[in-house]
Amino acid sequence: MEFAAKITGTGSAFPERRMTNDDIARELTKFGLETNDQWIRERTGIVERRISNVENEAELNSSLGAQAAQRALEMAGKTPEDIDQIIYATCSPDTALPSTACWLQQKIGARRAWGMDINAVCSGFVFGVVTAEQFIRSGYSKTVLVVGAEVLSHFINWQDRTVCILFGDGAGAAVVEKAPARLSRRILSSYLSCDGTLSKLLYVPAGGSAMEVTPDVYAQNLHKFRMNGRELFKVAVRTLTECALRTLEQARVPAVKLDWFVPHQANLRIIEAVANRVGISMEQVIINLDRYGNTSAATIPTALDEAIRDGRIQEGQTVLTDAFGAGLTAGAMVFRW
Ligand code: ACO
Repeated sequence: MEFAAKITGTGSAFPERRMTNDDIARELTKFGLETNDQWIRERTGIVERRISNVENEAELNSSLGAQAAQRALEMAGKTPEDIDQIIYATCSPDTALPSTACWLQQKIGARRAWGMDINAVCSGFVFGVVTAEQFIRSGYSKTVLVVGAEVLSHFINWQDRTVCILFGDGAGAAVVEKAPARLSRRILSSYLSCDGTLSKLLYVPAGGSAMEVTPDVYAQNLHKFRMNGRELFKVAVRTLTECALRTLEQARVPAVKLDWFVPHQANLRIIEAVANRVGISMEQVIINLDRYGNTSAATIPTALDEAIRDGRIQEGQTVLTDAFGAGLTAGAMVFRW
């Protein structure tokens, strides 16, 4: 017997501390560098972001993930004991080992679940939900918790003005459950891709086994993000457009029939260019990057959660999610809520 998978609950959580564009401008002047609120707003659409204090246990990646997960479970009407499997999408785990899925499992008390992390950077949540769908369709799992959470502020060189303005911290989660194959409310289509030839457009050279963080490496900030923003921008528009069109076609949903578009929140200009190419009006696009910046794997689940909770996304509506990230990874998914 064949099964489908449906999303039944979402949740999100953010650290308390707000950092505005003016705050960043003030920080940069200490290093003789300039930026300003107008430049950041016009080039990115970002107004402020949240920064976690990892000395506070409640603001660790896994703790934010746990808060988001509890909210998603509550919306789905499930308890932690109902979860069979945890998929934790992150590139900023609490620890290199064990996985953040294990830290989260003990925090929420999901005693029956097995779990693993996946690292597809900003595409992580879409990769996670599509992975959950495969386990559900094969009959292996019934109820999967997918978390997309990041504490990227700790991987940023706060003296690199093209990078430090973009990112923020936060967590989103979704409960994905088994559904009858023909149920209207289900994941309708998906498409995932990678292009490893573009890895150096955005990467962190040190901190893995390829390069230890020695004092010399530390002094050169090689354990922080290296990004070619201009090139990434162009690749992002092309890749997100291709993924969206392919997934809509596979779902047999023309863009005009789509209710909502929840794209990865990297840059408002990227989102506008993609919406325009795919034929989606900006009124149908869910945006939260103005308040949270690019929270990587957390952008899509947090934006989705906000729009479900405030009633924009209604039962029976069709939603397209579409992400790209370092790798270069990309993935899109069409589902009915
Ligand atoms: N404030 C003021 N000036 C700045 C700043 C700043 N914060 N940053 C760069 N500039 C300057 C540059 O030095 C450059 O000056 P120059 O013309 O004298 O050389 C000028 O502004 C224009 O720079 P560009 O890089 O061409 O600016 P652009 O319009 O491309 O915007 C940005 C830069 C915002 C980084 C953009 O390229 C972008 O968003 N790219 C995509 C990045 C992205 O999405 N990364 C995340 C990937 S997802 C993931 O996996 C985590």
